[in-house]
Amino acid sequence: MGYKSLCFGFFCVLFAYCVYSPVPENIEEPWKVRFMDAIIKMTSFVATLFENIGLMKYEEVFLTATAVYLTKPISDENITVIDTNFSDIPVRLYLPKRMSEGQRPAIIFIHGGAFVLGSCKISAYDYLNRWTANKLDAVVVGIDYRLAPQYHFPAALEDCVFGIKFFLQDKVLVEYRVDPSRICIMGDSSGGTLVATVTQLLQNDPEFKDRIKAQALIYPGLQLLDTFLPSHREYEHGPILSRGMAFKFVSLYVTEDKVLSQAILRNEHMPRESKHLFQFVNWSDFLPEKYKKNHVYTEPILGKLNASYPALMDTRLSPLIVSDSQLQSLPLTYILTCEHDVVRDDGLIYVTRLRNAGVQITHDHIEEGIHGALSFTRAPVFLHLGFRMRDKYISWLEENL
Ligand SMILES: *[C@@H]1O[C@H](CO)[C@@H](O)[C@H](O)[C@H]1NC(C)=O
Ligand SMILES: *[C@@H]1O[C@H](CO)[C@@H](O)[C@H](O)[C@H]1NC(C)=O
Ligand SMILES: *[C@@H]1O[C@H](CO)[C@@H](O)[C@H](O)[C@H]1NC(C)=O
Ligand SMILES: *[C@@H]1O[C@H](CO)[C@@H](O)[C@H](O)[C@H]1NC(C)=O
Repeated sequence: MGYKSLCFGFFCVLFAYCVYSPVPENIEEPWKVRFMDAIIKMTSFVATLFENIGLMKYEEVFLTATAVYLTKPISDENITVIDTNFSDIPVRLYLPKRMSEGQRPAIIFIHGGAFVLGSCKISAYDYLNRWTANKLDAVVVGIDYRLAPQYHFPAALEDCVFGIKFFLQDKVLVEYRVDPSRICIMGDSSGGTLVATVTQLLQNDPEFKDRIKAQALIYPGLQLLDTFLPSHREYEHGPILSRGMAFKFVSLYVTEDKVLSQAILRNEHMPRESKHLFQFVNWSDFLPEKYKKNHVYTEPILGKLNASYPALMDTRLSPLIVSDSQLQSLPLTYILTCEHDVVRDDGLIYVTRLRNAGVQITHDHIEEGIHGALSFTRAPVFLHLGFRMRDKYISWLEENL
């Protein structure tokens, strides 16, 4: 009886969330979005509850909920799928079966999940990578980097760098018949953060400079300095990704100390020594007028947090804070941003900064876009938007890689 009433209670709250959670007016398939948004908010609610009563950690509830979407490496008529290791780093390879004379392009895929969740083996990513390999006759490499909070910054990044450097060895490229001049690195959300950082690091490394032809960032988060940008304010409650959830997860990449995530949410987490870095994330300077709306720029409040976290000032966590001279040498770039996205402005600011630095860039902004849509291309929820995003990104690759 207790169990039944608990379930009943759960569904009542879920239903209420579905009905009352407001979604932006121009969103397509609003009921599907409401439904997914409600499921995520419910999971967050349950996770907070479980954490407070000491049953499970917040992130563990999400990990359990997403584990059902992990897939096995199953080859199909077009693609051979293999799970293997690049040295120690687990990767999933997608190798086209089609006979082809010459070499193939390659796409290295870095998944999202706020550094805490996800895997390239999640069904939506597996589907995307399979699709990409088939459509472009390309080798696709998904990297399963280590996750927080078990592994803190910069573990995820190190795995990506290490895996990519392993792949870029001549003998490995020859083994997979990859054209060394046609390699792209792609990632969504926090995967986009990692792509931006890895690309900067490789460009600064004499041994790897100009080895990457292109980078593609899909609704990336790119900085942790200012957590009060206009998009953080407007889309504080989502849809899909709320400000609270985003920063709660991302702060776990730095520390499990809750003091940091609470300070980040108040936007009072940066040390005094970081003042000079704010020029690089100043939305008042870099955001196109259209997105500033009536928002008023507030100067950051510095030095309120006693504990010091060097990662907060590290360009490898916030790739947006490198200087212009470091941006200039970046390769061909694709950035996709969504209007209804809490991290929208990170992407928009990077677009402005890259353009100012003279980097060749294609920017797709989706007016009815929501964060995470690319992941809604497999059961249980299919969004037209997700397929449209995929097609935009793929056609850019077809033309540019
Ligand atoms: C294999 O490729 C063909 C041609 O692109 C496509 O029509 C077919 O659906 C693909 N098969 C699978 C299992 O994806
Ligand atoms: C990859 O490495 C991990 C740990 O280093 C190991 O458990 C796993 O079996 C390896 N997988 C393959 C396919 O070699
Ligand atoms: C941000 O830009 C505004 C407008 O250009 C300026 O007034 C403000 O001082 C800048 N703040 C920082 C920290 O760069
Ligand atoms: C931070 O440190 C100062 C001085 O050491 C102390 O007065 C203050 O209470 C501390 N604040 C917190 C939140 O621990």
